[in-house]
Amino acid sequence: MRNIIDLIPRDRVTVSPSILAADFAALGSEVDKVTEAGCDLLHLDVMDGHFVPNLTMGPPLLKSLRGRSDLIFDTHLMLSDPLKYAEDFVKAGADHITFHLESDNNPDEVIDALRALGCTVGISLKPATPASAVIPYLNKIDLVLIMTVEPGFGGQSFMADMMPKVKEVHEAIKAGNLPVHLEIDGGIDAKTVEVATKAGANMMVAGTSVFRNPAGTKVAIEQLHAATQWLKL
Ligand code: DX5
Ligand code: ZN
Repeated sequence: MRNIIDLIPRDRVTVSPSILAADFAALGSEVDKVTEAGCDLLHLDVMDGHFVPNLTMGPPLLKSLRGRSDLIFDTHLMLSDPLKYAEDFVKAGADHITFHLESDNNPDEVIDALRALGCTVGISLKPATPASAVIPYLNKIDLVLIMTVEPGFGGQSFMADMMPKVKEVHEAIKAGNLPVHLEIDGGIDAKTVEVATKAGANMMVAGTSVFRNPAGTKVAIEQLHAATQWLKL
């Protein structure tokens, strides 16, 4: 299985378009479009109608996309019980799985289960969860995903007040010299990417600003990649 530690560089900003903002009636060609436009991964938002008040996609959808795309599937599980479904998502083709620290499961158990399944592991924090909650897990995971909107829906406004949290996690990763990616999700566009990158993030999830950009997906992805100039190594 491919993994984000070997394949996703840390010395430039990478882009993971969220298909939540794509045209679901043309999902295959939407994925082709962002692939040709130069995205680095594909972000899949999985919601259970319980952990967040919305329902999106399940393993069958990943499986059909897997048959069509070679992108790394950056799978974001917004589920109350990620342990119950992790194996189904890996079997369907998820390369990387991020679960929420606020889920009902014991985080160590989820990490161990995901490792046993062979995928890379991320932990996501909702806006109200402090950086200190994820710090004890940094040496066991591959990625931290900091939400800059309340999870559940695309198209919301970026919460700039999350930047101190991003800085704190970035500093802890650096202090430990750990190979952990720092990803931001929610309201990322050509403007907000600057502050997110300056705070220490190196991976950008972007739905609306990529799939619904009037200038087109190629320009959208180029604008996000250009934030590499502010990257904090
Ligand atoms: C929200 C999802 C995000 C969202 C991002 O719960 O995790 O991935 O789709 O969409 P935009 O970029 O539109 O904020
Ligand atoms: Zn997401």
